[in-house]
Amino acid sequence: MKILGILASHQEHGLNAQMLDEVLKNVDEGVETETIYLENYKITPHKYHEKNPVLDELSEKLLKSDVWVFAAPTYFRELSGVLKNFFDCMRPKLVYFKENGDTIPGQFKNKHYLSISSCYISPLENFITGVTDEAFKTIDRVMAAAGVIKVGEIVLPGTFGMKELPHNKKKLCQKYAKKISVKKRKDDSTLKRYIQLFFMIAVMALITMGIQLPLNSWIGSNFWWNYISFTLIFFVLLSCILHFMTFVKHRRR
Ligand SMILES: Cc1cc2nc3c(=O)[nH]c(=O)nc-3n(C[C@H](O)[C@H](O)[C@H](O)COP(=O)(O)O)c2cc1C
Repeated sequence: MKILGILASHQEHGLNAQMLDEVLKNVDEGVETETIYLENYKITPHKYHEKNPVLDELSEKLLKSDVWVFAAPTYFRELSGVLKNFFDCMRPKLVYFKENGDTIPGQFKNKHYLSISSCYISPLENFITGVTDEAFKTIDRVMAAAGVIKVGEIVLPGTFGMKELPHNKKKLCQKYAKKISVKKRKDDSTLKRYIQLFFMIAVMALITMGIQLPLNSWIGSNFWWNYISFTLIFFVLLSCILHFMTFVKHRRR
């Protein structure tokens, strides 16, 4: 079992480096770890018929690890350029191309990844505006194309003037260290998704019936009016929660 930390910050010993370090030094005994600092590599695109030893070396490191931990700050509300450039240049190694130009997951399919990011703005502002979302979304998009499975996210907002990690973030890093230390099955979140769906429906139905109660004086016991009002209220509530789960699903605090 090996975990590879990929640091993609301008600062080699900044807060992302500290979070990555906190994760890697708390993995279970016997789990091998390695950190690569992307700024130390001259990462250039793969040119047809030309050898690219840097990409080959990095690709080998990815292949030999079971879990990747990306630590990349948010720059201009986006993923740090060095990680984006790494992804762009690695594309031919991350995905296979079909004859029609579509891509399918390549050699790294079913590996796992954890994402770490940070930003200057406060936790409250990040909670409302989601400045760090784009960084996480870009990582997710690339990993989804490569068939790599997500383990989680760690975000650290309010980094202006911060020199050391807050206690709660250290704890979170330690928690994820334990989580990524065990070898995962391909995608073990199917059961979790069904359970989430069940509870979502149960809560939405309860709220819908609660809203219907005061409407009973108008609707009475007419089956069709009850049915129509239930469907409409349930639909609105479900759309809101699905929107929330789809677009606001990234960790912001
Ligand atoms: C080029 C650049 C762009 C940045 N853009 C943003 C931004 O849009 N929003 C924000 O809140 N912080 C921004 N920051 C602040 C970084 O996200 C913050 O300093 C980060 O915590 C640095 O992590 P590090 O200590 O690992 O280097 C930016 C920093 C740099 C250097």
